[in-house]
Amino acid sequence: MDLQLAGKRALVTGSSSGIGVGIAQMLAAEGCAVVIHGRNRERTESTLRDLKVAGMAIGDLSTDEGAAAVHEQARAALGGPIEILVNNAGGTDGDSTTRPPLKITVEEWLSAYQGNALAAVRLALAAAPDMISAAWGRIINISSAVAVQPNNLGSDYTGAKAALNNFTVSLAGSLQGSGVTVNTVSPGIIMTSGLLAFGRHNYANPDMTATEVADRMVADKIFDYPPSGRLGTPEDIALIVSTLASPRSGFVTGANYRVDGGQVRTV
Ligand SMILES: NC(=O)c1ccc[n+]([C@@H]2O[C@H](COP(=O)([O-])OP(=O)(O)OC[C@H]3O[C@@H](n4cnc5c(N)ncnc54)[C@H](OP(=O)(O)O)[C@@H]3O)[C@@H](O)[C@H]2O)c1
Repeated sequence: MDLQLAGKRALVTGSSSGIGVGIAQMLAAEGCAVVIHGRNRERTESTLRDLKVAGMAIGDLSTDEGAAAVHEQARAALGGPIEILVNNAGGTDGDSTTRPPLKITVEEWLSAYQGNALAAVRLALAAAPDMISAAWGRIINISSAVAVQPNNLGSDYTGAKAALNNFTVSLAGSLQGSGVTVNTVSPGIIMTSGLLAFGRHNYANPDMTATEVADRMVADKIFDYPPSGRLGTPEDIALIVSTLASPRSGFVTGANYRVDGGQVRTV
């Protein structure tokens, strides 16, 4: 099926590594002009060399200035307004995902909120006016399964992702009839280089394989293998993001797509 994405202009934030790379790759393969993004210039440049995309943008989305700079760089590299905004940047910079709520500081809560909720809000504020003027646009927020099914660890992160889900629904509602859709995609556990690095660091073993890290995290009750019996891949997420980005998906807005192998147990 033709997703009718050829020629669309897309920014995928946080695409210097992990899930974002998979999303950028698939949108580019579907014919989109894609700008990738990261904070770390070297890492982003290295990813840029591997992909067939329009360019890159650098900036910390946890600040207003950083987000404004990313928006401007993306617009310039794309040669026009962003039509598809994938707010994928996020995660946790520290190790709060291994600690219970009473061991997480207010500073960590603020940082998680900046990086996971406000980063997306800033870029939506910047990009949505052009989408509304063009009567077409797509905003896709990458959240997490733990936004709706938090475990007992990392509540700064899970809480910030829950705020992002909430933002999706109210923004979609406020853009009724505009041609701009807003959706959430909620990954389960996806084996990315970020997760692998986190595991190796946390278990002080730089030689651990992805499977060993996953098994150890299951043993430590950080997560469970979902009903799918395997962890997810960036391509699993990219497929749903590309589908939502398609002009064919105009009837889908305000939704939360779980791509979690069945991890969230709800009807
Ligand atoms: N992997 C999973 O299991 C999983 C599960 C559920 C949800 N998610 C979500 O999926 C998204 C991608 O995760 P991932 O595992 O692919 O992460 P990753 O490999 O660690 O990559 C994170 C990306 O986001 C960028 N980034 C992070 N904070 C940023 C900030 N404040 N400003 C600008 N860029 C920032 C990083 O840039 P630099 O490297 O340049 O700093 C990097 O490009 C995140 O939102 C994460 O919360 C992941």
